[in-house]
Amino acid sequence: MRTVDLRSDTVTLPTDEMLEAMRTAELGDDVYREDPTVNRLEELAAKKMGKEAALLATSGTQANLISVMSQTKLGDEVVLEADAHLYYYEVGAFSVLGGLVPRLVKGERGVMTPKDIEGALRSPNIHFPPTSLICIENTHNRAGGTVWSPSQIKALCDFAETRGLNVHMDGARIFNAAIAQNLDVRELTRHVDSLMFCLSKGLSAPIGSLVVGSREFIDRARRCRKMLGGGMRQAGIIAAPGIIAIEKMVYRLKDDHENAKLLARGLSKIDGISLDLDRVQTNIIPYDVSGLRVNANEWTSKMRDFGVKAGAVEAARVRMVTHRGIEKEDIEYALEVAEKVARQIRGKQ
Ligand SMILES: Cc1ncc(COP(=O)(O)O)c(C=O)c1O
Repeated sequence: MRTVDLRSDTVTLPTDEMLEAMRTAELGDDVYREDPTVNRLEELAAKKMGKEAALLATSGTQANLISVMSQTKLGDEVVLEADAHLYYYEVGAFSVLGGLVPRLVKGERGVMTPKDIEGALRSPNIHFPPTSLICIENTHNRAGGTVWSPSQIKALCDFAETRGLNVHMDGARIFNAAIAQNLDVRELTRHVDSLMFCLSKGLSAPIGSLVVGSREFIDRARRCRKMLGGGMRQAGIIAAPGIIAIEKMVYRLKDDHENAKLLARGLSKIDGISLDLDRVQTNIIPYDVSGLRVNANEWTSKMRDFGVKAGAVEAARVRMVTHRGIEKEDIEYALEVAEKVARQIRGKQ
């Protein structure tokens, strides 16, 4: 049976060129800073993002944790969007391992304004944990791959500066945000103190994320990575496909965005599915199936019977994600299946 896996862009497999680059990568011990391929990837990542330095981490979760822990101290408060990946999907690591207290702020499609944050900040007082960091997410996963614009980021960072707070950007899909807005990615990174981005999502590398920021921050981050067990040795085998990911896989993300719009338009026409087309700004398509009077698990399991895989995000909320390997014909097939499944469900009611 044909399979169309739309659960996540993390399911992408490395290209042949990436596999060959892994085989031939020049290697050394990266804990001694002697892996030339890792060094090259870190220099490339820093330059791409317009920052001084970068550090290879094993995953996005680890890169976020390293970034947050390197800018806070035990017992600090961190401001996060209420649906932030860092809060929602990272096993509470920043609290468990970083000793940090979350302060959640509801954003609009994942975007928080200075006013939103101002309302959440408390004046220094012996009863309150001191606030030291604001985290933003671009693109915002649970909001549906929505983007922060450069002016929204600048406004937030300007405000943070007035309060003496640092800003970390979870940019797991930062290149999607840049491509969707037709911008150089540096327009999005300029004002934040730190960011992380993933090589292993739409960019198709098998492993790895980068922490990026000032040299002084990256020196601290390197110690933190070691403490968390992320000091790798011949990590050039991970870095080599990562270099290809950054150099060659960014521009094609626009195909994923076009496919996402095609899929979203088709889904929005199906009776019983509700979908906000304005929310589909990158490669994530969130929709609601409560109009079909099924829950998300029932829906995704029926779709899976025909080989189409989607993610159940909440009771009635489903998510599909486009990525390399998903072609226009796959979108058409997914839509045929969605129509058929919806028809079957309605027929039984
Ligand atoms: C916004 C965001 N941040 C962080 C991560 C964590 O990345 P990883 O799965 O590599 O730990 C993800 C993963 O999907 C994500 O979507």
